[in-house]
Amino acid sequence: MKKKNLKILGIETTCDETSASVVEDGRIVLSNIIASQAKLHSKYGGIVPEVASRKHFEALPIVVDEALKEASININDLDAIAVSKEPGLPPALSVGYAYASGLALANDKELIEVNHLEAHISAIWISKNKENLKEIPYPYLCLLVSGGHTQLILVSKENNYKILGSTRDDAAGEAFDKTARLLNLGYPGGPVIDKISKSGDEHMIIFPRPMIDSTDFDFSFSGLKTAVRREVQKQKESNNKYKAHRELHNEISKNWISDIAASFQEAIIETLVVKTINAAEEIGVENIAMAGGVSANSRLREQLGRACDNMGYHLFYPDLEYCVDNAAMVAARGRELIKN
Ligand code: KG4
Ligand code: ZN
Repeated sequence: MKKKNLKILGIETTCDETSASVVEDGRIVLSNIIASQAKLHSKYGGIVPEVASRKHFEALPIVVDEALKEASININDLDAIAVSKEPGLPPALSVGYAYASGLALANDKELIEVNHLEAHISAIWISKNKENLKEIPYPYLCLLVSGGHTQLILVSKENNYKILGSTRDDAAGEAFDKTARLLNLGYPGGPVIDKISKSGDEHMIIFPRPMIDSTDFDFSFSGLKTAVRREVQKQKESNNKYKAHRELHNEISKNWISDIAASFQEAIIETLVVKTINAAEEIGVENIAMAGGVSANSRLREQLGRACDNMGYHLFYPDLEYCVDNAAMVAARGRELIKN
């Protein structure tokens, strides 16, 4: 039987967010501080690992301090420290791990090593609000969609994760980021494509739905990115025709970018939804979950929500603020793994 009111400090540095959080009983978020480096990396069009690790090193003491302050607790009152161990960018991970282990050693706390992808799944049941805590009944199928991973995972009981399928090339978030770069929309690409797609026509271009009908649970998104690149090239050539009429040219370009973004998003979301529902049917679960940065996508929430309603599945996903990388999910996963 685990102790009540257990407080864990989570530390997250797998990619470009430096985050620290205090979570009570693996569910109630007392603080969740995130220092994002996205702006810094956006000028390079993607993450530079060495820059990320240097920034983590600078930000960690400040972020941890703020997380403890906001949770109104002293480091001595912590029961343990949880840290993302893998997967992630090795230079970034090692900075967070070294910091967390030093802190645990100096303060005589248990150090819990957490898998970053399992932490993303734990984000589903955390909340700032005690009244808003979710419980997912086992077994459930989880669609894990982040910048580095796209997986279908069967969670049959606590600590029991079975990967049924993965991407064979680009991850869903990576496809969003690369497409945004092709369209000069900056980094990270997911949120901006999500936003501008709302004013675009998702039927304007019918992009391929890769592996949508395949009998396995794998994904592949690099062909979709190539199809977008081809479309961009075609558009550039035909746009040159309108250059003489600057106003008309600008209008066409603006509409075209939101149409292409919406068409790309529709292809990726439909693939994710169809494959998730097919997998749930095949393995015979009643509960479906999704997690990771791309689970913040409004079209994915809408379409997977609709499909689950139609087919009678219960759907669970994290509050928006816990979809992208954060330390609260790391502390929550730590609660499941704590030994002492
Ligand atoms: O989980 P995450 O923070 O980092 C990894 O573990 O990789 O996911 C980041 C990814 C990025 O690729 C970003 O573009 C994507 O999540 N993302 C989104 C949205 N918000 C973030 N993708 C689509 N729609 C969004 N609203
Ligand atoms: Zn992540």
